[in-house]
Amino acid sequence: MTETTPAACVIGYPAKHSRSPKLHGYWLNKYGIKGDYRIEEVSPDDFAGFVGDLAGYGYVGANVTMPHKDAALELSEPDARARAVGAANTLWLEDGKLKSTNTDVEGFIGSLDAAARGWETRINSAVVLGAGGAGRAVVYGLLERGVQTVHVANRTHEKAVALRERFGDAVQPAHWDDVPDLLAGAALLANSTSLGMAGQPPLEIDIGPMAADGIVADIVYVPLKTPLLAAAEARGMSIANGLDMLLHQAVTGFEHWFGTRPAVTREQYELLAADIA
Ligand code: ATR
Repeated sequence: MTETTPAACVIGYPAKHSRSPKLHGYWLNKYGIKGDYRIEEVSPDDFAGFVGDLAGYGYVGANVTMPHKDAALELSEPDARARAVGAANTLWLEDGKLKSTNTDVEGFIGSLDAAARGWETRINSAVVLGAGGAGRAVVYGLLERGVQTVHVANRTHEKAVALRERFGDAVQPAHWDDVPDLLAGAALLANSTSLGMAGQPPLEIDIGPMAADGIVADIVYVPLKTPLLAAAEARGMSIANGLDMLLHQAVTGFEHWFGTRPAVTREQYELLAADIA
């Protein structure tokens, strides 16, 4: 009798830098699951062929990263979240069909829960910087958890307006120049732009006027503590970083592929943090 070992992968282009094998490898080891998680660098031209025959390539499912998240949505049967966000980052085979979801939503919300449990009971309004794919997941997550007004500031204003069209009037599009005014008294700020990431321009904003007991989240995880998060921490605010989000977004994929819902642990965080540093 032969037993096959379930395997999943992260599909990106490029993908070699991915930390996901280490992240999922930690859980496979912790739960004693015989499984594998690999990196697959697949070009946009080859992506449809690859996910169209995922089982043939030896996989029960996959994470999807840049630049394939839109194509993954088109080529699969997405759930309501992936449809609403307009991107899919997690694929799995179910009854021979390729299903998908967007776990960036729960990744972001999971990072907020870890940083400041119960935050949603005291926060009605949030400021989100950026209106790209990650910004859509962040805004959707905030609205899903009952935040009433989400101000979205983006360099390209039309993309912030498009978020109101997608999610309704709870989204208030703003110009980048409006950010200082929006931050006055703000209780929750999330950066979903690439600003502040290693090799990218800095995010030049002053969080001094924010509420002293506010929360600042950053999706960037290289560096682990962006200047934005360092400034928030220095003021005694709660902070959620991009590594927290990366860990929490991985939970549902692992459960679909390997049958166990894993827990994000401090030890796992430290393992990945050391790798990033
Ligand atoms: P992702 O899927 O990671 O969100 P994206 O869709 O390319 O990636 O979005 C990147 C975000 O960072 C966008 O909000 C982008 O602003 P634009 O919509 O104006 O492009 C923002 N961003 C990137 N570089 C920026 C910069 N130098 N200044 C301001 N915003 C920037």
